[in-house]
Amino acid sequence: MKQGKLVTLAIESSCDETAAAVLLEGRRILSNIIASQIKTHQVFGGVVPEIASRHHLDNVNKVVTQALEQADVGMKDVDIIGVTYGPGLVGALLIGLATAKAYALAAEKPLVGVHHIQGHISANYIEHQDLEPPFMALVISGGHTNIVQVTDYNQCEVLGQTRDDAAGEAYDKVARVLGLGYPGGPLIDKIAKQGDPAAVAFKRVFLEKGSLDFSFSGTKTGVLNYVNSEKQSGREIKVPDVAASFQQAILEVVVAKTVGAAVARKQDKIVMAGGVASNSRLREMMTDACEKEGVRLYCPSPILCTDNAAMIGCAAYYKYKAGYTDGLDLDADPRLPL
Ligand code: KG4
Ligand code: ZN
Repeated sequence: MKQGKLVTLAIESSCDETAAAVLLEGRRILSNIIASQIKTHQVFGGVVPEIASRHHLDNVNKVVTQALEQADVGMKDVDIIGVTYGPGLVGALLIGLATAKAYALAAEKPLVGVHHIQGHISANYIEHQDLEPPFMALVISGGHTNIVQVTDYNQCEVLGQTRDDAAGEAYDKVARVLGLGYPGGPLIDKIAKQGDPAAVAFKRVFLEKGSLDFSFSGTKTGVLNYVNSEKQSGREIKVPDVAASFQQAILEVVVAKTVGAAVARKQDKIVMAGGVASNSRLREMMTDACEKEGVRLYCPSPILCTDNAAMIGCAAYYKYKAGYTDGLDLDADPRLPL
């Protein structure tokens, strides 16, 4: 292993962002480039996998070149190449992975495959330079909703996960029914500020006593049924009230389970990660609940909450420091377990 400060080049392409980043010593961003495809997928109301792959192919070399240029780093200066290899859309993952392998082979650099969720959690190490494990993590995005006990940089245990929709997925579907557009999470967040969270009592699904799993599809279907029956009765739908009531129902469960898990395991830190972690109501409710329990709350800024390559670079750095590297036979795994 090289002495001195390590430079990591990272690539992320698991869903609809093609991203590349360069980091110094794993926690300092030298560049963080994200080519978003949101506009392309907006017309379809969701991510179309084939289109996502095609865009990744068009953009991946451009974002890598831009990331190196902006960081003022040449390939010869890079020590580690980190890349997301799962979970995600297989066609999308393959493009980032093949690119990372090509750079690793051509420049003779070590390749480190990263789990996408491990990446999301690691965004907090960049944002909060003093943060160290152990802590309780809530990973809440369009693809995942997990409560994870992080014991060390490369060690964690999944305590709970969604049994159906991810929270962000439920947000996106409800937003579509309310005619708000895509992606729905930020739009619900915004419009709910003018609504009454107690206007409609949507189902809070806690599952069996003690379970840290989630189920959001019942609450989501409750909103769809409510909207349909109001329409059929000719009543006007108060979109801000429905949005505020929906997110209140989801977030009460999320906050209670996450803070409950931290208290039960005597953890004094909770870390949030993933796209939905930038939700303002979630941040408010978590801040209040954590204050009551004497738990410190950590959350990345919005640009590090949604998919990016800096978080992948940070996770790759800690894997490399612990001695993990991958061969060029590393395969993409769309359902990679944590
Ligand atoms: O982490 P991310 O970029 O991709 C996945 O790994 O899934 O998360 C995207 C998800 C989308 O469902 C989007 O609607 C949601 O995060 N999201 C939000 C907010 N910002 C993004 N949901 C609620 N409130 C927000 N402010
Ligand atoms: Zn993600």
